[in-house]
Amino acid sequence: MIRGGRPLAGEVEMPCAKNSVLPILAAAMLARGAVRIRRVPRLRDVETSLQLLAALGCPAVQIDGDLLLAPGGPMGDTVPRPLMAAMRSSIYYLAPMLARGGRARVTLPGGCRLGARPIDLHLEGLAAMGARISADGDQLDCTAPNGLHGAEIRLRFPSVGATETLLIAAAAAAGETRICGAAREPEVCDLAGFLTACGARIEGAGTSCIRVLGGPLQGCEYTPIPDRITAQTVLCAAAACGGQVLLRRAPFAPLQPMAGILRRAGCSVRRAGQDGVVLESDGCLTAAGSISTGVYPAFATDAGPLLAAAMLTARGETRLRETIFSNRFSCAAQFARMGAKVDCDGRLLCIRGVPALQGAQVTAQDLRGGAALVIAALTAQGESRIGGVEYIRRGYEDIAGLFGALGAEISCTVQQVCSPAGAGVSA
Ligand code: EPZ
Repeated sequence: MIRGGRPLAGEVEMPCAKNSVLPILAAAMLARGAVRIRRVPRLRDVETSLQLLAALGCPAVQIDGDLLLAPGGPMGDTVPRPLMAAMRSSIYYLAPMLARGGRARVTLPGGCRLGARPIDLHLEGLAAMGARISADGDQLDCTAPNGLHGAEIRLRFPSVGATETLLIAAAAAAGETRICGAAREPEVCDLAGFLTACGARIEGAGTSCIRVLGGPLQGCEYTPIPDRITAQTVLCAAAACGGQVLLRRAPFAPLQPMAGILRRAGCSVRRAGQDGVVLESDGCLTAAGSISTGVYPAFATDAGPLLAAAMLTARGETRLRETIFSNRFSCAAQFARMGAKVDCDGRLLCIRGVPALQGAQVTAQDLRGGAALVIAALTAQGESRIGGVEYIRRGYEDIAGLFGALGAEISCTVQQVCSPAGAGVSA
């Protein structure tokens, strides 16, 4: 529930990145000693990961916001179907299961419905490393009777998930692996950083060719990088609502594409100290013009709906072209319910800015689209009710707390019921 139309002011600290934490939790299964992941946000996808780890025989304990895992014991070889269906990141467990136990039985992963999200690149890479994969409908039975071995792998597309699956596999494989055409996203580097802290030898993370020398891994303590998409969510909201916000723990480099766009739209965006960003806006934005999403370091696909929300009340026309997923803009129809002038033709979203949005009842249909509805509702006059909050909770621990700290009138009635082991459900 949001009563919009207020400027945002104050400072907030960015949590650790969801898209780092999720593959790191899977990779932790390779370690032979205790692993402590610091400052893990309590996201719904993290809760799913904890259930998945427990199902595979590696329960996690939460202490002071950190997660403690004790991998190394006997490991299951089957992920229950509901856990596979609950998120895309379940697929990251395939590589550790194969590397540790030589067998993995999974079904196809779920995740936000952003269009086709195949896993062919994950499977082809694993096959090149010695995995045998048989598929029966949506069931996969994978074995690696002789273990995984190093290989030269060339990805047709720099898939973030496939690069991460293969990084995890390569860290545990015998010999050297080269992943060419790799994704360069900061979260890929972060996974490599975690594996390196466990003793893996990795060169080239952050470039399109990564070399990994596999070997035994030990435990470590690790703090994942800050969440650049949460940071962009706050920047877009403050740009559109007006006000002044300071983001702490928000390194500037990954925010540069968004910062450039928001500056052209009329905001001041600057670094503050080593890891801070300040945005000032009078809330009267000029449309962003033509923007395309792309793989890192281009403007991120996850940020597309967030920018779209900020542009709904900007003067002029914004044309957002999505190049990664075919169904990124399912939020467009919900924007229209708030009085926005939007026209979505597949991967192209055209926005003609209107003077003001009106609060409305809308429904989130995916994570970033849901966050975009929050931004739109914050700028709108009057009250909005946003349903489908469980999508938003995949990637934002407490979006009401985040914006409430900046002066927004926002509340969320989803109750968290958490077990001591960390697995939780939304009621
Ligand atoms: C990651 O998804 C992120 N998720 C997504 O964030 C993000 O939108 C995406 O990367 C792009 O940056 C996590 O890190 C957990 P991809 P992922 O594999 O790994 C095609 C969010 O909101 N492809 O790079 O699934 C695929 O169809 C989420 O936080 C294949 O063809 O993205 C898509 O068109 C949503 N075959 C493109 O690559 C494959 O085997 C990008 O997918 C794999 C992917």
